Amino acid sequence: MPVVVITGTQWGDEGKGKVVDVLTEKANIVARYQGGHNAGHTVVIKDETYILHMIPSGILHKGTLSIIGNGTVVEPRNLLEEIDGLREKGIEVSGDNLLLSKGAHLIMPYHLALDAGTEKKLGKDKIGTTGRGIGPAYTDKMARRGIKAGDLLFPEIFREKLEKNLAYTNAVLEKVYGIDTFSVDAVYNEFMGYAEMLREHISDTGVVLGRALEGGENILVEGAQGTLLDIDHGTYPYVTSSSASAGGAAIGLGIGPTKISNVLGIVKAYTTRVGEGPFPTELNDDLGAHIQKKGGEFGATTGRPRRCGWLDMVALRYAARVNGLTGIVITKLDILDGIDEINICTEYEVDGGRTADFPNTAAELEQCRPVYESLPGWKESTAGVMRYEDLPEGAKQYLKTIEKMLGVEIQVICTGPRREELMVLKNPF
Ligand code: GDP
Ligand code: IMO
Ligand code: MG
Repeated sequence: MPVVVITGTQWGDEGKGKVVDVLTEKANIVARYQGGHNAGHTVVIKDETYILHMIPSGILHKGTLSIIGNGTVVEPRNLLEEIDGLREKGIEVSGDNLLLSKGAHLIMPYHLALDAGTEKKLGKDKIGTTGRGIGPAYTDKMARRGIKAGDLLFPEIFREKLEKNLAYTNAVLEKVYGIDTFSVDAVYNEFMGYAEMLREHISDTGVVLGRALEGGENILVEGAQGTLLDIDHGTYPYVTSSSASAGGAAIGLGIGPTKISNVLGIVKAYTTRVGEGPFPTELNDDLGAHIQKKGGEFGATTGRPRRCGWLDMVALRYAARVNGLTGIVITKLDILDGIDEINICTEYEVDGGRTADFPNTAAELEQCRPVYESLPGWKESTAGVMRYEDLPEGAKQYLKTIEKMLGVEIQVICTGPRREELMVLKNPF
């Protein structure tokens, strides 16, 4: 029963999409367990670049079943646009290869309005969300007034839930935010249109996954965001609203935790962050700008520049613990080519002392200053290298140091955005 979970160990954008695409070769099913179209997962195949927001990156492999699990939040119009975009590029998408869990919660138009309204109200304290309605949709889920994808199949139930929700939400929009309210009829009609188009995909995905497990199929689980953006384990409140870390996989797909065989953490060779919130190893200098430019560090969803900094071993050790990592994947090693000296943060200085424990509240992390260990860089190019032996000595030393400090085995190393630009040292299936 091999279930392999791919999870981000930093603040997202570690290169999960690329890794999922490559490992899909061995998978029968690829499943997303949380988040929504705040995610932007990039896969480069030959000259074509695909950016997937809601659909699992496995969709690009013929014969693989993609599942959007119950733990996600889904904006139907965006999902339909993503399906159309893939079809335009010649990728087949139908009810045979893409299933949407009945239990996934819907992102409604008023969630988008609430997201924008909340950020505006927060002013300088804003989270810097992607503006996709993620927080408000999960808020409604937890407050037990959410509407699920399965409700689309029952118009009367859908309407009843919408009426109840809007009785509350419209009052909030009007009285708290002073912004336009939504009409039940208009939203109902819009969503009944989506219901027709999504009907073939909506399914009890827990049953499908359960049968696949019984049949011994390989399931690849695709996380979105990263551990430091997790609602419980991230740098709260500068986080997303879902359980991005590996524990979320069991809940967000309806499979038991004992079924998970491997948890592979994706580690970018440096660190990036989009949006607000503390970032101890951030480089606000020419080197930070160089990494941002060379790494193309601009959001795949919002296009915002990503803040860049050194690798943070304090945060990575924390991610290893929270996720129970059985292996890691290093991505974007090539971006560090040509840098004279490379730093790894090994501890934080705080309150006149030192700590190796990651504090997961923003206020505490804000007080932490990085303590670095420096390694010599390498001059040679690692771009596109596909054999470990061919890596320069400096790069090998950097990788060995990471492995030793973290105590988790490196199983895959990526040296470019393309499918083939990597080396698999150990297959997780
Ligand atoms: P995700 O959200 O974790 O899937 O990551 P994103 O797609 O948002 O960002 C990762 C970016 O790095 C994308 O543009 C990828 O094409 C690119 N990428 C992934 N791995 C590598 C690598 O090893 N080297 C380089 N140069 N680019 C990579
Ligand atoms: P992938 O899956 C990087 C960040 C936002 C913001 C915070 C909350 O591509 O790695 P939200 O819209 O979720 O309420 O925003 O989380 N964020 C991401 N940062 N990669 C992502 O996804 C992200 N999804 C959300 O920038 O700081
Ligand atoms: Mg991304």
